[in-house]
Amino acid sequence: MGLNITEKIISAHLVDGKMEPGTEIGLRIDQTLTQDATGTMAYLQFEAMGIEKVQTELSVSYVDHNTLQMGFRNPDDHQYLRTVAAKHGVVFSPAGTGICHQLHLENFAKPGKTLIGSDSHTPTAGGLGSLAMGAGGLSVALAMAGQPYSIPMPKVVKVELSGKLTGWATSKDIILHLLGELTVKGGVGIVFEFGGEGVKTLSVPERAVITNMGAELGATTSIFPSDENTRDFLKAMDRVEDYSELVADTDATYADTIKIDLSKLEPLVAQPHMPDRVVTVKSLAGLKVNQSAIGSCTNSSYSDLKTTALILKDQQLPQGVDLMISPGSKQVLKMLASEGFIAPLLDSGARLLECTCGPCIGMGGSPTSAGVSVRTFNRNFEGRSGTQDAKVYLASPQTAAKLALAGEFTDPASWGTPIEKIDFPAEVPSIRHLFIYPPENGAEVELVRGPNIVPLESFSALPDEISSEILLKVGDDITTDHILPAGAQITALRSNIPAISEYIFSRVDENFVSRMKNSESGIILGGENYGQGSSREHAALGPRHLGVVAVIVKSMARIHRANLVNFGILPLVLSQKSDYDRLSEGSHLTLKTTEITPGGETVATTADGLQIKVKNDLSEKELAIIIAGGLLNYVGKQL
Ligand code: F3S
Repeated sequence: MGLNITEKIISAHLVDGKMEPGTEIGLRIDQTLTQDATGTMAYLQFEAMGIEKVQTELSVSYVDHNTLQMGFRNPDDHQYLRTVAAKHGVVFSPAGTGICHQLHLENFAKPGKTLIGSDSHTPTAGGLGSLAMGAGGLSVALAMAGQPYSIPMPKVVKVELSGKLTGWATSKDIILHLLGELTVKGGVGIVFEFGGEGVKTLSVPERAVITNMGAELGATTSIFPSDENTRDFLKAMDRVEDYSELVADTDATYADTIKIDLSKLEPLVAQPHMPDRVVTVKSLAGLKVNQSAIGSCTNSSYSDLKTTALILKDQQLPQGVDLMISPGSKQVLKMLASEGFIAPLLDSGARLLECTCGPCIGMGGSPTSAGVSVRTFNRNFEGRSGTQDAKVYLASPQTAAKLALAGEFTDPASWGTPIEKIDFPAEVPSIRHLFIYPPENGAEVELVRGPNIVPLESFSALPDEISSEILLKVGDDITTDHILPAGAQITALRSNIPAISEYIFSRVDENFVSRMKNSESGIILGGENYGQGSSREHAALGPRHLGVVAVIVKSMARIHRANLVNFGILPLVLSQKSDYDRLSEGSHLTLKTTEITPGGETVATTADGLQIKVKNDLSEKELAIIIAGGLLNYVGKQL
């Protein structure tokens, strides 16, 4: 039986498991990428493994998120990232060079390769046929150490494109259409593989818009074939030697097929505050627009910004409308400059920003209070723009530019003749000399750590017996935000575990940290759905630093449970939920860890002899990881 593209790449990289949907597989990873917000922790974890040089074909460290330097913390992070990259064989991209996904597509991604990145929009590289997935920092660190990346074998769903985009519809409208149909939960456990005649009508940058925002479907990733258009793109990037054809076999099978006729699409927009609240642009005609922002890893390519310049040429923005433009890379910026497209942008009144994420994460460019902002980005969650009550709409660059000029939503039928498809100029400037390539021998590189960069401590193995007090009892639905609040002041401490740990449960019980400091170890007792919310590793790392040895709950969220395992904290569930009421803060528990078996039940005894049954759903490997004191220790033993 023939294979689809996803199966071809997976079978060529499979080191563990079988290609049966839902079962765990281990993949050899060819390339990794990190960005600065998640990168510092990934490299601290890599350092803790004691490996000299990354084992991947290519690893790149990009600085694109926290590029504002309004104090020592961000520049110190950048300095650490530069030196740790040189030491361990990683390519470094300095602040301002561009946004990680745009740069990776232009310079490094290759068809048929596996790529994981500590950023959820890593699937952008699927636009030229890489199997590219977003992952946690520790997974990226492990991949750099040569360890396989484990995922459940995804289901592969074909998205069959027919016809051709017409009028003002763009590739952004293809992914917005899919989001409207499938919702933000529609892609869990799925790889969306694009095929059909319509694929030929889309350039690599257009395909990358779709695979980038496929992340909003919750998908494992999205991927396009590698064909003539891929070859043309790589040729324009002066690396045609990286091209190889990658297409599905004619008898390939798929779990499902979704059909989209491109000729039927029209300009769409996702309404606040979810990327799947999709309606037509024309249906909102008359709604006032205060701001547009064009850029981000979704829509900041040369064709996106040249189109914008052609729309803005000889036009002037209305008073009170703010239009920001951030090129995805210096290569894009240089092309616009050499082709004469910067002047029309500036003359229209638009603001040209640095080649970074910028307004996408509220790093400048926040809208006015209750303002309407039309952005070409991929996410419009409440407050993400930096203005809590702003209303952010997601759309194509064409739509964002047209609406900014009008100062309100208008019907695309009134926009005049659509801009024709844009090709790369004959001469595409290179910016490859701006990357800092690691020396052959990194041993002599001096690591520079500012005061905000603190090496990871090594954690001890699980003792044979836990004898600790319950130092915190919390109720149901404790989120990772309860465990470790977000916010600029706290996240700036992301590379300093002792400092960030001071905030653990700070908004739930301000004395918890001091109680932990006064005890050698402690246990947390929780209710239902403990640890729901984001995947932040620090919500497990912080408690571990403080000495938490076990979390005993009524039930637990999946990702937080995995993080507890990774950092060596026992995730236990009360066999009888009613025992929750028999335990209180200050209860002392004794539990023989040598009696814990994978998926088994153990007894914890209180000081007055009460027997509390606790169970676990750990696999053999997960239990071994906890016994070793966490994943870093466990992997260290195998290396
Ligand atoms: Fe950056 Fe926003 Fe993309 S933060 S990586 S531009 S989603």
